[in-house]
Amino acid sequence: MATVDLIGSSPGFRAVLENVERIAPTDSTVLIQGETGTGKEMIARAIHDASPRRQNRFVTLNCAAIPSALLESELFGHERGAFTGAVTQTAGRFQAADHGTLFLDEIGDLPLDLQPKLLRVLQEGEFERLGGGRTIQADVRVITATNQDLVRMVEERKFRADLFYRLDVLPITLPPLREREDDIPLLAEHFMRKFAQRLGKSIDFIPADVMRVLKRHHWPGNIRELQNVIERSVILTTGPGLDLWAIRLDSPKAVSPSSNTLVEAQRAHIVAALRRSNWVVSGPRGAAVELGLRRSTLSAMMQRLKIQREASPQGAT
Ligand SMILES: Nc1ncnc2c1ncn2[C@@H]1O[C@H](COP(=O)(O)OP(=O)(O)OP(=O)(O)O)[C@@H](O)[C@H]1O
Ligand SMILES: [Mg+2]
Repeated sequence: MATVDLIGSSPGFRAVLENVERIAPTDSTVLIQGETGTGKEMIARAIHDASPRRQNRFVTLNCAAIPSALLESELFGHERGAFTGAVTQTAGRFQAADHGTLFLDEIGDLPLDLQPKLLRVLQEGEFERLGGGRTIQADVRVITATNQDLVRMVEERKFRADLFYRLDVLPITLPPLREREDDIPLLAEHFMRKFAQRLGKSIDFIPADVMRVLKRHHWPGNIRELQNVIERSVILTTGPGLDLWAIRLDSPKAVSPSSNTLVEAQRAHIVAALRRSNWVVSGPRGAAVELGLRRSTLSAMMQRLKIQREASPQGAT
């Protein structure tokens, strides 16, 4: 897995990586499932990079991003004059991916009328361009991904069962980030270093209270959401320790009983402001002004949240 930087050591993620290694050398079709932002595309690339096809192309097509009327031509190509506007013969993605890998993202959005055509290429390795009679062969390894529940779509007859079973030969399910709690610190630090380096900032650590909030957040947007939160935080951090910014607090991980995610977040937010003000509470440069609170309110909150001035990381006073 040379070119992609896959971070994670939780049991769930390690199982995925073991699967990737086992799957990579084969030519079988892979179906990657998982919530949005869990790393499906990254895993697809990792499979290609670890496969004997790595010297050849990794071609992607997002089935949800192309109008369905154009999808067939995108996949299989078209002959000149196949439809209005088809002024030249064009190769499709299957041909482009010959001897390589074709990644069909959002496969759940593949229209029903195209599904038998995909099934045929997967089974026979051949297809025809739109408007053309000649049969074309292509040696393509297909990896698909979706965040939809394909089993349910099959039950609801929105996805063909025969295609599903053909795609599901090698299934990989990516766990949501909230089930990979051990990976949150690794990923957060990885992204912190990456963005700090990119911005030329020296941010060295993630304070324990910030990390607590990160670990407790529900992360509906998974790794992509974590990455965005860390990027914003790096941009806005002034000290050597990462301040937490702009995390959405409307999605606590535990629905019951009484998660203290919000309290933790409040605490982290106040501590961050205090660090920026060098622990000055009142006055024009004090944390109360920055937080939009009266001095007495902030003091009361600090007491309630048991926030005390901490020793500075560099040992300064
Ligand atoms: N294990 C990982 N280590 C480091 N970064 C990761 C990892 N997994 C995902 N990422 C990063 O998280 C972001 C989302 O990953 P990716 O696009 O692969 O997710 P996805 O499951 O395809 O999302 P969507 O369902 O929204 O298409 C990307 O920026 C990717 O680089
Ligand atoms: Mg994706």
